[in-house]
Parts: sequence; structure tokens; C-alpha cells
Amino acid sequence: MLKDKVIIVFGGCGLIGREIVKDIEKKNGTAINADINSEAYPTDITDENAIKNLFKQIYEKYQKIDGVVHCAYPRTKDWGNKFEDIDFNSWKKNVDMQLNPILVISQEGVKYMKKGSSFVFFGSIYGVRGNDFTIYEGTGGTSPAAYPAIKGGIINFTKYLASYIGHKGIRANCVSPGGVIDKKQQHPKFIENYSHRSPLKRLAQPYEIAPAVSFLLSDEASYITGHNLMVDGGWSAI
Ligand SMILES: NC(=O)c1ccc[n+]([C@@H]2O[C@H](COP(=O)([O-])OP(=O)(O)OC[C@H]3O[C@@H](n4cnc5c(N)ncnc54)[C@H](O)[C@@H]3O)[C@@H](O)[C@H]2O)c1
Repeated sequence: MLKDKVIIVFGGCGLIGREIVKDIEKKNGTAINADINSEAYPTDITDENAIKNLFKQIYEKYQKIDGVVHCAYPRTKDWGNKFEDIDFNSWKKNVDMQLNPILVISQEGVKYMKKGSSFVFFGSIYGVRGNDFTIYEGTGGTSPAAYPAIKGGIINFTKYLASYIGHKGIRANCVSPGGVIDKKQQHPKFIENYSHRSPLKRLAQPYEIAPAVSFLLSDEASYITGHNLMVDGGWSAI
């Protein structure tokens, strides 16, 4: 399905990213893992020159770039503070790290990508729906206020980009997951509350997000652009 395609994955060491890398390779593509912690291509998406160098290096090596996935997720240590306790500088830093790199990633991609190639960015259920705070009851946690601002921005930027580059035959789409199971991070009460509220009565497994990304990268999605594909077990349907 992705045979001979060269695909850069920013954030390819993460919970979702590592499954994306695996799925691309399973489908006979070449995944370039450009995570900050990657062994082969360590890349910090908050560093403009690092992004530029990565694209240049990959293009020089493969003479083409067929896809770009951006699922890197930098955040500050106090990400997760409740609304009243959010420090303005922390808000600004998170918006800067999580939203702004999409500009340089897109500009560089457009420089090198040709007809038939595509971008896949990451939104979230919280980029399209308001938060249901009842799922945090009894967990001691909450959902960061900057998150919907950033994710809504990414989803709508994707539409801008799709429209701007469509005439070149390059596509841009978004994948918006719901909650993904991560037992190391999530309070058991959160898993219980989330599952109760979700139509499929559970969170996603990390490997359930990747095939949607591979599909959007593939030629089978050749007429899909500017779309935000919800992979959320029906969360946003109710
Ligand atoms: N996990 C979920 O439940 C969930 C739900 C909805 C949306 N999402 C979205 O999916 C995407 C991936 O989330 P995840 O759960 O895999 O996150 P994660 O924290 O597991 O992985 C993020 C990856 O980004 C890398 N990273 C951090 N800072 C970086 C930087 N400056 N430059 C390059 N790489 C950097 C990390 O090393 C890590 O490997 C995010 O956009 C997130 O908002 C996740």
C-alpha cells in the first residue's frame, strides 16, 4: 500500500508515532523517524534549522519525499495544571512548541514534495468538541486549556494548507484520535470514566490509530484532502 514511499514521521518514538512507523514499514514504505529521541535522525521540531536540515538530508538521500506525518508532542512540565493555575508564559511556550512548528514543516515539505504526496497532522477530539470534565472526576487530573486551542488551530490550518497546495496535487489531512490507552500515564479511574462515556466502551489501543494515517498517506486516498479523520471510537458522534 505504501510501497516505495519515503515518509518522514516527526514524533516517531511516541505512543502513537512508533505504531505509525511500524505500520508504514509493514506496508512496504520507508519511515524516517524524526523524533527528538530518534537514533538515526534526531530532530527537534522547535528548532527551525533542524527541520530544514532534516528535509534537505532526506531529499538528498532518497531524491524524493512522499509523505510527512507530524505527531510530535512537546510540552512543558506543568502541562496539565488546572485552568486557574496556568502560568501565561507556560501557555505561550506550549502554543509555541505544539502549534508553531507546523509552519516550517509545511513550508519545507512543499519545497520538496511532488504531485501524489501528502501531509498528515494530528488533531484530537478536543480540537472539535468541548471537554467533558466528568471523565476526570476522582482522578486528580484535568485536561490542559491550551490543548483545544492548539488542536483546533492544527485542524483548521490543515484546511488552509490543503486549499493552498491542492493545485500542485499535494494533499493535507488530519487524524484526530480520542483517548489512547497508556497504562503508565493514566489513572484507572480515568480509564473507567472514559470507557463509560465512549460508544465503544473503551480507549483506543495505540496500534488502532496508525492504519488511518497509512490510508491517508496512500494513493487510495488520492481524492481526500482537507479532511479531519476522527479515530475516536465514536466519541465525537454523540
Ligand atoms: N495519546 C492520546 O491519547 C492522544 C489523543 C488524541 C490526540 N493525540 C495526539 O497524538 C499525537 C501523538 O501523541 P502521543 O500520545 O503519541 O504522544 P507521546 O508523548 O507518546 O509522543 C510524542 C513524541 O514526540 C516526541 N517529541 C517531544 N518533543 C519533541 C520535539 N521538540 N521534537 C521532536 N519530537 C519531540 C517525544 O520524544 C515522543 O516520542 C499528539 O499530537 C497528541 O496530541 C494523542
